[in-house]
Amino acid sequence: MEHIRRNKIADLLKSKNFGSEVLVKGWVRSKRGNKNINFIALNDGSAIHTIQVVAEVANFPEEVLKLVTTGSCIAVKGTLVESMGQGQSVEIQAGHIEVFGTADPETYPLQKKGHSLEFLREIAHLRPRTNTFGAVLRIRHAMAFAIHKYFNDQGFYYIHAPIITGSDAEGAGAMFRVTTLDDKNPPVLPDGHVDYSQDFFGKETKLTVSGQLEAELGAMALGLVYTFGPTFRAENSNTPRHLAEFWMIEPEMAFYDIHDDMDLAEDFLKYLIRYALENCHDDLEFLDKMYDNELIARLNEVVADKFVRLTYTEAVEILIASGQSWEFPVDWGTDLQAEHERYIVEKHFGKPVILTGYPKDIKAFYMKMNEDGKTVRAMDVLFPKIGEIIGGSQREENLDALLKRIHEMNIPEKDVWWYLDTRKFGTAPHAGFGLGFERLILFVTGMSNIRDVIPFPRTPKNAEF
Ligand code: 4AD
Ligand code: MG
Repeated sequence: MEHIRRNKIADLLKSKNFGSEVLVKGWVRSKRGNKNINFIALNDGSAIHTIQVVAEVANFPEEVLKLVTTGSCIAVKGTLVESMGQGQSVEIQAGHIEVFGTADPETYPLQKKGHSLEFLREIAHLRPRTNTFGAVLRIRHAMAFAIHKYFNDQGFYYIHAPIITGSDAEGAGAMFRVTTLDDKNPPVLPDGHVDYSQDFFGKETKLTVSGQLEAELGAMALGLVYTFGPTFRAENSNTPRHLAEFWMIEPEMAFYDIHDDMDLAEDFLKYLIRYALENCHDDLEFLDKMYDNELIARLNEVVADKFVRLTYTEAVEILIASGQSWEFPVDWGTDLQAEHERYIVEKHFGKPVILTGYPKDIKAFYMKMNEDGKTVRAMDVLFPKIGEIIGGSQREENLDALLKRIHEMNIPEKDVWWYLDTRKFGTAPHAGFGLGFERLILFVTGMSNIRDVIPFPRTPKNAEF
């Protein structure tokens, strides 16, 4: 086949350039027809839709069309023509077909349509070839791009926080250890503990649970910064909303208080959802039709509505007054569970809610104390169908107040000396938050399990691919 530029199927589907010579390359979704004519549905990942390739059987060697089966990869050169058939406006009259890769119909796992999401998780290496995962992955890409665009347009700098860390200061949950020590025969101290001074970094190291502490260091120099990277939590929480490896976006802003923080979080989320509505229309329409008929309506509502803002204390009062029976009882001072968050958002207000003023004992050491000495300037953004999508706070910038909290929570000062230096040298009021990227993608795609919005989910007992 002579060397001409490949046309993307997405472009051809919008084209009116009938009669032009085109070259497409992609994977066969289906082939039907009769002994005279074959109709091949071809997808190349550039759009959810396939293009129809029409091949007159007489024009091709028998062995070629025989190899064109579901899942095979082919190149087609032909003429773009207006389609007379239903469901498409253009098609390709095939002149030449080259088979790059066959897919044996006996063994190709995606031979039939309509596999369950559970089954597709077992073939995560092939599921991007389905309509559903194509749509999810294109939306995931669009959201990552929009995040960088939003912050860049607002004058934020992208900071890369380390993935391997020597500090366990965040207290966000159990951490994964990173080591090169011989697991069968590690060096041991006289007291029986492993001697990490002989490990690769000369100390015990873990995978980070959050890039926040490093983002704070950046904000104390660059003003407005954000991180966007993988984070790791070794909790054994097998829920549709938790991953052991997930991506988090953490903006950190010098001179912001808790109200500025909430304003940014609301504007940011609405921007991202609006971006998806404007740029991912076909994929959203597919997901709306196949999985969640209220998806697009819900996205539009969230963009239009002002988020409700109320305190943790007010939320607890609403929950107690509701008379609902809970799996986890609510009482002032207890952490809110997903069932409580979803009641507040879905049943009580019917729109996103930002809760503030949480009890200090259920939040991290770095959050700024309120005047009452009991609550902190935390804020959680709660979304319909998701629960907590963002967690953030104004930070304690006063050295003495921060030290008091560190001592109360038994955090060794020697582990956070570098963090404390920001409060010693040119401290400033500041605030930030963390958006769980996969929770955002769950909301935007309407999918109901977080394992289905990341290419290769890491969950307890699951790291096959
Ligand atoms: O509320 P979290 O734990 O907050 C922090 O880590 C702060 N350092 C953020 C900050 O202020 N810079 O996590 C933030 C968000 C949650 O709201 C949730 O969306 C997501 O991260 N998240 C998870 N997503 C998937 N799987 C998990 N195991 C998650 N844990 C938290
Ligand atoms: Mg949280």
